[in-house]
Amino acid sequence: MSAFYPLEVTQVRKLTPDSVAVSLRVPEDLRGTFAFEAGQYLTFRLLKDGSEIRRAYSIASRPGAPELTVAVKKVPKGVFSTYANEVLRAGDRLEAMPPQGRFVFNAAKPVKALLALAAGSGITPVLSIIRTALEAGTDTRVVLAYGNRSADETMFRPELEALKAEYADRFSVYYVFSRSSEEGSLFGRIDSSTLNFITRNKHKDLTFDRYYLCGPEGMIELAEETLLGQGVAREQILHELFTSAEVTDTLQEALEGKSRLSVTLDGVVHDLVMDQKSLVLDAVLRAKIDAPYSCQGGVCSTCIARVTEGKAQMVKNQILTPGEIAEGLILTCQAHPTSPDLKIDYDDV
Ligand SMILES: Cc1cc2nc3c(=O)[nH]c(=O)nc-3n(C[C@H](O)[C@H](O)[C@H](O)COP(=O)(O)OP(=O)(O)OC[C@H]3O[C@@H](n4cnc5c(N)ncnc54)[C@H](O)[C@@H]3O)c2cc1C
Ligand code: FES
Repeated sequence: MSAFYPLEVTQVRKLTPDSVAVSLRVPEDLRGTFAFEAGQYLTFRLLKDGSEIRRAYSIASRPGAPELTVAVKKVPKGVFSTYANEVLRAGDRLEAMPPQGRFVFNAAKPVKALLALAAGSGITPVLSIIRTALEAGTDTRVVLAYGNRSADETMFRPELEALKAEYADRFSVYYVFSRSSEEGSLFGRIDSSTLNFITRNKHKDLTFDRYYLCGPEGMIELAEETLLGQGVAREQILHELFTSAEVTDTLQEALEGKSRLSVTLDGVVHDLVMDQKSLVLDAVLRAKIDAPYSCQGGVCSTCIARVTEGKAQMVKNQILTPGEIAEGLILTCQAHPTSPDLKIDYDDV
């Protein structure tokens, strides 16, 4: 079930001309429900002109902090991000789903050196991960490359500078500006030369054992390619995308028939018939089944279900590994049924 809880906004703080940090109070009885791992996100729901929209925002605060803080960067004509930047005030309530996501820092697993690459609002989950990593391991080294257009548009810079002062011998940050030059910063975008400069020149003494990437698709693809080329194992690299390029749904044109769909959610089985041209999540929501979802674009992980019988094919997938797909996991917002019968289970993921 998509369970939403109203959380009180305690502060809306301007970070840059185009972004705000939103702090939320979690009532005592919901502390367990809203416990999270560094790197996870919240999904908010907002009623706008009679219809419900849902958007995901990563948590910037560290696990255990008294309040949850997210940061929202305004995108042109963006419904939720404009609301958060221009309308939302302390005292309002935001309806939030409990934290989710697989872009997480496991503080129980020792880490020697962590390299994070973030661009723009991609700093939000990375800030929580960096803080947690520095606090968790007394020897852990953390290096961050953080790309923005200019210093003015750099979210959480004072927080990063405070961490640099507190962990001077263990935390290094490289600001990369694409539209302004500033002494001590790098000029351009985070690309393979930035990565090589950091790993092969500035920190050649470090052997990074974990990599966290959060930013635009192009930056992530290039960084992953460079790291894999340097011999880094795929399992050591985690990425989070906030948005992804539209992909033409060629399956939709090719599929003609209907499928019988059986959906298990919260222990209840629902049966329906759907066109194979439709996406599983759309058919499920049309049938008024309260399945979990957030981005509907194949970039979060809220809508995952397990195929227990039959077949489904995804239009795109930025999240599930080949092993997980082989195990039967699907992003229901991206999946078409491709067999006459399809059974999926939201509870077994
Ligand atoms: C797992 C996850 C975590 C996220 N964490 C954060 C976060 O910490 N901070 C944050 O600010 N955002 C974050 N996002 C993005 C966020 O969920 C919204 O997509 C974003 O704020 C735009 O929503 P909107 O309603 O304002 O825009 P919409 O009304 O959905 O879109 C308006 C227009 O903007 C375009 N657009 C949508 N998203 C973006 C984008 N990110 N950049 C440029 N153009 C865009 C759309 O294509 C559309 O043309 C995250 C997304 C995911 C999936
Ligand atoms: S709802 Fe985000 S991946 Fe499906």
